[in-house]
Amino acid sequence: MPRLASHTDSVPPSGIRRIFELAHSVDDVIYLAVGEPDVPVADAILDAAAAAWEADDTDYTPNGGVPELREAIVRSVAERNGIRTDTERVWVTNGATQALYLAMSLVLDPGDEVLLPDPGYTTFTMNAHLLSATPVPYPLHPDRDFTPDIAELERLVTDRTKAIIVNSPSNPLGAVFDRDTLAALLAFAEAHDLWVISDEVYERFTYDIAHTSLASLGGDDRVLTVFSASKTYALTGARVGWLLTPPGLAPLLRSAQEAMISCVNTPAQRAVVAALNGPQEHVAAAAEHYRDNLERAAAALDERGIRYLDPAGAFYLWVDVSHATGGDVASWAERFLLEQHVAVAPGSAFGRMGEGWIRLCAAASTADLLEGIRRLPARSDATAGSGTESSDSGPTTEAPGSAPTADSLAESAAGSAATPVQSDSSSQPRAGILVRPIRAEEIAFASEQRFAAYSADLEITGDYAEEVRDVARHVETAEVWVAVEEETGRVLASVTLPRPGETLHLGRPGELEFRLLAVDPDARRRGLGRLLTQFVIDTARERGATRVVMNSGTEMTSAHSLYESMGFARMPERENPPGIEPSRAYGLEL
Ligand SMILES: Cc1ncc(COP(=O)(O)O)c(C=O)c1O
Repeated sequence: MPRLASHTDSVPPSGIRRIFELAHSVDDVIYLAVGEPDVPVADAILDAAAAAWEADDTDYTPNGGVPELREAIVRSVAERNGIRTDTERVWVTNGATQALYLAMSLVLDPGDEVLLPDPGYTTFTMNAHLLSATPVPYPLHPDRDFTPDIAELERLVTDRTKAIIVNSPSNPLGAVFDRDTLAALLAFAEAHDLWVISDEVYERFTYDIAHTSLASLGGDDRVLTVFSASKTYALTGARVGWLLTPPGLAPLLRSAQEAMISCVNTPAQRAVVAALNGPQEHVAAAAEHYRDNLERAAAALDERGIRYLDPAGAFYLWVDVSHATGGDVASWAERFLLEQHVAVAPGSAFGRMGEGWIRLCAAASTADLLEGIRRLPARSDATAGSGTESSDSGPTTEAPGSAPTADSLAESAAGSAATPVQSDSSSQPRAGILVRPIRAEEIAFASEQRFAAYSADLEITGDYAEEVRDVARHVETAEVWVAVEEETGRVLASVTLPRPGETLHLGRPGELEFRLLAVDPDARRRGLGRLLTQFVIDTARERGATRVVMNSGTEMTSAHSLYESMGFARMPERENPPGIEPSRAYGLEL
């Protein structure tokens, strides 16, 4: 077979599909994994589609959609979303899925960076890879109710950043961003001259908070909004969505649509005309059903002492099962399916911040939902985390000319409490640890911690000591990520990575080199070195790197045995720029 395009290597598999496929081999499964509305389609909608088929209304339509549908959309978004637009800015698409791809393909060049939510809808990342763009996840934290932190976005933005994707109400979180948050996101996009792609497919399902459309706040020249009939009208298989664009793009969109799909199937468009123009009671009834399910599910989770995000929109519950997953929610979800016959979506399928969480779909029968929750492990009967102590790598070192000698590290490693890391499952990290970008207020602490971690094993002096302590500079020139104990908020370990598309100290293009991975001396034996190294590997994959590299100026250390247990191999000595010794690099080919 001829070679496939290189971007195909980086398109990640869907973690939800895996569960979906496995579920087919299991009997009596309760399906809470997929976002499929469980309410019937309104008769008027079905009748309109049937009438179109009957009348042989099956010709090509204009690329942007039948005029009646575009007009209905213009009216609907004016009335319901406060967005003023016109038919030339409305493009009917094959579901929101194609609207998203279309929008991203219009604004992203290969190598451009796109900020997207983590946890976030999987398609955002997949599309970025398909377009050879670089997805840059912006973390949504439980301690901020999963709303974006503009300061963190400021740290992630680079001169390659071209767009930000916003999704409210959110899949998988069920979070809804208020007006102020959306206004702040828009101001951020304006300040950095970014496109905004606002995915609002759950617009009609919010509970006790009104949905705000980002485009209603301004940004007429930069906001692209994605809507869909799939969730609102329970029409997932009809495949009708729409994209609202800034003015002046019609000729471009006409060509893009022509090349991608020509147009959406005509009877489906007719069905959505009826849906938008007809009575909306069935949408309100669906919202009531989802609200009722979410409330009952929340009560059942409360009763069992299981933590979750209070759902404000969509029809998902974001549930913390980290007490049971031992740091690997994807494997846990498979076991849960096989043992308890309940299919749930593992949070890690939606990004790194989803580790330890699951998404339950409340668009299900109430009985199924409550039974599924009854089978979840309560906090009190959790087993993971206990008895899964592992040794930790302690600090790993990188190799400026001033790096400590091989012998000093080998000796100190042998003499320290840290024993070599085993590659078996006992090295799972403990539950309840979050990996996220460092925050400004943590920099001073992390600097001292990093120094203490390195000093525990090495003699650190001179420039090298300064370098180890200089977290602030790394934040400015690269990315510093930390592992944080969720319960206490304490930073336990940190690592420096390059920004997407850039290289670090001795890294080569296409590689992701990480540096200064340091674990707090008091937090060893908790698998944090492994956790952060795995994080680095996942990040490298996500960013399409071909190799992960740790450049070390030292001989075999406990850290190196950790890397080896994770598949890294010693690379031949590499020539470095003048003045720096050849490095002893450990590399993992991806
Ligand atoms: C956030 C989000 N955007 C887009 C889509 C895709 O919707 P559609 O069926 O209209 O393609 C989904 C579907 O689950 C979604 O959750």
